[in-house]
Amino acid sequence: MSKPERGSSGGARPADARPALRRDPQERAAELRRELEHHNHRYYVLDDPEVSDSEYDALINELRDIEAAHPELLTPDSPTQRVGAKPLDRFEAAEHLQPMLSLANARNEEELEAWVQRTDRRLQKEEVDDADIRYVTEPKVDGLAISLVYEHGMLVRGATRGDGRVGEDVTQNLRTIKAIPLRIDDAPPLLEVRGEAYMPRSAFARLNEQRAEAGEPTFANPRNSAAGTIRQLDPELVAARPLSMWSYSVGALEGIELQTQWESLEWLKQHGFRVNPEIERHDDVPSVVEACVAWEERRDALDYETDGVVVKVDDLALQRRLGVVGREPRGAIAWKFAPMTATTTLKGVMWNVGRTGHMVPFASLEPVQVSGVTVKLATLHNEEDLRRKDVRDGDEVIVMRAGDVIPQVVSPTPGAQRRRKRSPVPEPPSECPSCATPTIKPEGGVWTICPNRAGCPGQVFQAVKHFVSKGAMDIDGLGEENARRFLSDGLISDVADIYELDEGRLTSLEGFGEISASNLVASVERSKQVPFGRVLYALGIPGIGYVNARNLTAHFRTMHALLEAAPEEVTEAPGIGPVLAETIVETLSEQRTRELIARLREHGLHFEETGPAPGTEGPLAGRTFVITGTLPDMSREKATERIEEAGGKVTGSVSKNTDYLVAGEDPGGSKFTKARELGTEILDEEALVALLEGDS
Ligand code: IVH
Repeated sequence: MSKPERGSSGGARPADARPALRRDPQERAAELRRELEHHNHRYYVLDDPEVSDSEYDALINELRDIEAAHPELLTPDSPTQRVGAKPLDRFEAAEHLQPMLSLANARNEEELEAWVQRTDRRLQKEEVDDADIRYVTEPKVDGLAISLVYEHGMLVRGATRGDGRVGEDVTQNLRTIKAIPLRIDDAPPLLEVRGEAYMPRSAFARLNEQRAEAGEPTFANPRNSAAGTIRQLDPELVAARPLSMWSYSVGALEGIELQTQWESLEWLKQHGFRVNPEIERHDDVPSVVEACVAWEERRDALDYETDGVVVKVDDLALQRRLGVVGREPRGAIAWKFAPMTATTTLKGVMWNVGRTGHMVPFASLEPVQVSGVTVKLATLHNEEDLRRKDVRDGDEVIVMRAGDVIPQVVSPTPGAQRRRKRSPVPEPPSECPSCATPTIKPEGGVWTICPNRAGCPGQVFQAVKHFVSKGAMDIDGLGEENARRFLSDGLISDVADIYELDEGRLTSLEGFGEISASNLVASVERSKQVPFGRVLYALGIPGIGYVNARNLTAHFRTMHALLEAAPEEVTEAPGIGPVLAETIVETLSEQRTRELIARLREHGLHFEETGPAPGTEGPLAGRTFVITGTLPDMSREKATERIEEAGGKVTGSVSKNTDYLVAGEDPGGSKFTKARELGTEILDEEALVALLEGDS
């Protein structure tokens, strides 16, 4: 599951969300911050947005404008201040207020029962009846432990765990995570919140895909990618990667008291922190065991990785009385799931061709069970990854499954690497495995490619598979099997042909019923509504993964502008470096890319951002107004407000850029005269209202 888009039109739009130019900027800024915090909370913490992306953008842009005009009003907790800090040279050390401990493990029911008995025995000595002990179970999310310190409600420091006593100060990176409140209301003087920062699986899969394509090393798992991201020195880069956080406990605390773990979690939730909704409280041990077992069965279904369940004694006073042994508190334990890795023999490295022509290595394995699933094939990502991992045919290798992510070969086992007679390093094939064209390694390139771009069935198949995939055009009914069949039957020969499929032809195929045919055609039709960012991603241009596509379309807004852009201009889009920009421009200038785009455009796909550019929303988008004189029924403030609400701009003096002069009684002489001179259209109040209401 990936993050939902904010609702397209949004539910209730707060009545006071519209720009109010003449209001006290300080008051308006405070109001906007509250509103934006509310929407952040709805979106990033509760997963239940109330407004659309463009409504959110309009609010944050209004706040940015106010802050730009009145820098003295800027506050560190402003939602505009999540990103913006400069890259660091290194992280400062952060000494924890209380040590960050680790957990003892229970690998099975017996070990969990043994822990319960030990706990009961200790507490009985203290005259606590085991019937009074309650437990809380929490998914043990596999990310990295984080400590957040709030002083009087303001986030003052965020740190990694480090060695448990001293971590690294990664405050500016954590500030970019929107599930972390920068400020909380009704706060005690000191509060430390502990939790797990993590990368959702869906985001991890996309990130790796993008990195593999850009020739960068891939991350082995979501945990590594979250840890690697948090330790980036440049917060801009962190902000571009979708991290989130589950808060799971309160550390140092002054000014209020929390009696139980459950109460702490409730308190955290009420104060805007993201608390895992799967957390449960139990009165007895069988119910704890049941929860642990149930969790293990569900682990694949969630968009975050878990490696176990944390079981905690609910009563915090009892937890304290139980104390700590070594670095592990006695009052909690981690029920560990079966590992997601296994060891098996690599029968051989095989090669496929990717959608951009590069040779993609994959492993054929001696079948092995990895957390309940038989794995026979695993990805090796790309040539570079293969070399880095140094796996050879016949090696014993470690294989990992990470949920819905394709299984991968992690590394050879240490034993395999010590083998005396290892096979040679696998080399990419000299002929394309799909079309037998001799492969080449372009000068300066990192990968071997099949140069037969348009004619290689393997590349076309991969391109179609990518084009119809969920994150791209999301066309149902054109799975791998059908795609192969349509290509080999000549029904389609590239992605544009998908838009020419008709029910008649489809139903003439053996085994293709009317219902499947009409569903497919409907799904193809629906895909025409896919926004430009996803269309650009769907084209499968080397280096344009999901994130880059969205950044490019937000920056250029139209395909035309992107096609016209020189490499230097392409680097102006966030996250695009000079090398990538060259590749993008080169591919986009190819005749066949241009032809493909032209054909897709004819079929009605979006090659323009249809959403408004920030600040230009509404029927009067891009039009400039000047108001003069007193309007009969509307105050000038009201008129300004309504024009801005409709996306127009109100300025103070008439120039050749002015589209309309709104003139009331006693119009100011100079504005009126200038407008006459320039031939600017002059409106009275009635005409303005008509324009606002779309009557003209
Ligand atoms: S409590 C006293 N609760 O597991 C230990 N830890 O070895 C405090 N983790 O590094 C941890 N989810 O990052 C706790 N709901 C949860 C957790 C959790 C994940 C991680 C944590 C720590 C490791 C414990």
